[in-house]
Amino acid sequence: MRDDGYHDLVNVFHAVSIFDEVEAKESELVKVGVVGEWADQVPLDDGNLAIQAARALAKHAGRSYGVELVIRKAIPVAGGMAGGSADAAGALVACNELWGLGLPPEDLMEIAADLGSDVPFSLLGGTAVGTGRGEQLTGLETSGTFHWVFAIADGGLSTAKVYAECDRLREATGEAVGWPQVSEPLLTALRTGDAQALGAVLTNDLQPAALMLRRSLARTLETGRDLGALGAIVSGSGPTCAFLAADADHARDLSISLTASGVCHTAAPTTGPALGAHLI
Ligand code: C5P
Repeated sequence: MRDDGYHDLVNVFHAVSIFDEVEAKESELVKVGVVGEWADQVPLDDGNLAIQAARALAKHAGRSYGVELVIRKAIPVAGGMAGGSADAAGALVACNELWGLGLPPEDLMEIAADLGSDVPFSLLGGTAVGTGRGEQLTGLETSGTFHWVFAIADGGLSTAKVYAECDRLREATGEAVGWPQVSEPLLTALRTGDAQALGAVLTNDLQPAALMLRRSLARTLETGRDLGALGAIVSGSGPTCAFLAADADHARDLSISLTASGVCHTAAPTTGPALGAHLI
């Protein structure tokens, strides 16, 4: 762990087509409302990352702007899919427009990095290697479209607790942890659009910790593999699990079977790479 409490990592980010919508309306104060399936789990106070994003942008502009943000949630809360980061990125883009600031992407990226490790990638989208605590990005070229299934769990996991459990497990096993490195076979599979090869090399160092905190995820992953997924992995810090499918039909069948098997709350097919936060 670093002195600032974060972990240096190498993370291959890949944006998928599950979007929250962030609407920005004129208002005296900065406030937020949330609608959608996961709305009741989202904080409406200053703990909300979209509120923090609006305030940080106003501060950067040196003005006391207000905004009413309305977030339509589709991304699970505390699901390991950077949903809060996506909302923060959406708020930056929306407020930049509403307030007529015209700030360039570089400025938004700088503000994003202060908000959270995954916010810069949520702005950028596509596929990218993240280093540092995840905020230093290098875009990656990929070929074609990858077909994924995301199995959403009941209830979330705290990212900080999963990292802490990862530290505990490493200490308990005395595992020597080298400097994080990007996997060349993974980059090659992404570049060539080879889903079979990509599925075989998916790994997540946070997965053992997420499995320790949520034992049922082992069965979720196993069920997806048994159903023919090309790869199965915990997404981010979990508890959402990601499965790679061969094509759109396979993804649809896999998501129906996973949902029916009862090993998750729901499973949904999606594709990547997708856009980062953008105006609609
Ligand atoms: O950056 P963000 O606020 O999203 O991170 C949430 C928590 O996840 C941090 O407080 C930290 O405990 C953990 N974290 C970490 N190393 C990273 C990213 C996140 O330890 N690279």
